Amino acid sequence: MTEKIDIELHINGRSHAVRVEPRKTLVDAIRDECGLTGTHIGCEHGVCGACTVIIDDDAVRSCLMFAVQAQGKRIRTVESLADGEKLHPMQAAFIAHHALQCGFCTPGFLMTLIPFLEENPDPSEDEIRHALSGNLCRCTGYQNIVRSVLRAAELRATAEQATAEQATPQQAEQVGR
Ligand code: FES
Ligand code: FES
Repeated sequence: MTEKIDIELHINGRSHAVRVEPRKTLVDAIRDECGLTGTHIGCEHGVCGACTVIIDDDAVRSCLMFAVQAQGKRIRTVESLADGEKLHPMQAAFIAHHALQCGFCTPGFLMTLIPFLEENPDPSEDEIRHALSGNLCRCTGYQNIVRSVLRAAELRATAEQATAEQATPQQAEQVGR
């Protein structure tokens, strides 16, 4: 049997000390060792996108990475999105626009689209379709997901505007307004 090794994973701002075989995938470690089962496993071949998490600001398929490779990196899973009862704008938009049915694919879509929107705050429909082209959904259809991303972009812009309007003069100066 392969010897297990001790590693530390930084997930959603918390450190998890785990003992894993070197061949253990990151998605298995996240789910089995850290108890974060919101990240789903579909194809295990990098095709469906269900296992997507955010690592150091990039969407990554966690079935294609070994847990040992994720040491020292900042990992975000779907559990990090809501702030208590308050949903992330992308989650709220998915619900408002009926962008999920069984929900199996949803964590992967969210974790793919959030860094996309962070990099492209005002995306076109074509850009959104391209961004989600690597994620498979077998029951909802993509139209509502595209609508959700457009809505999340609007919500994000409004929130940023509100924050800027509420900023103190000192804060405004700090952000270069
Ligand atoms: Fe990782 Fe399908 S489970 S891409
Ligand atoms: Fe069921 Fe996407 S909502 S697979």
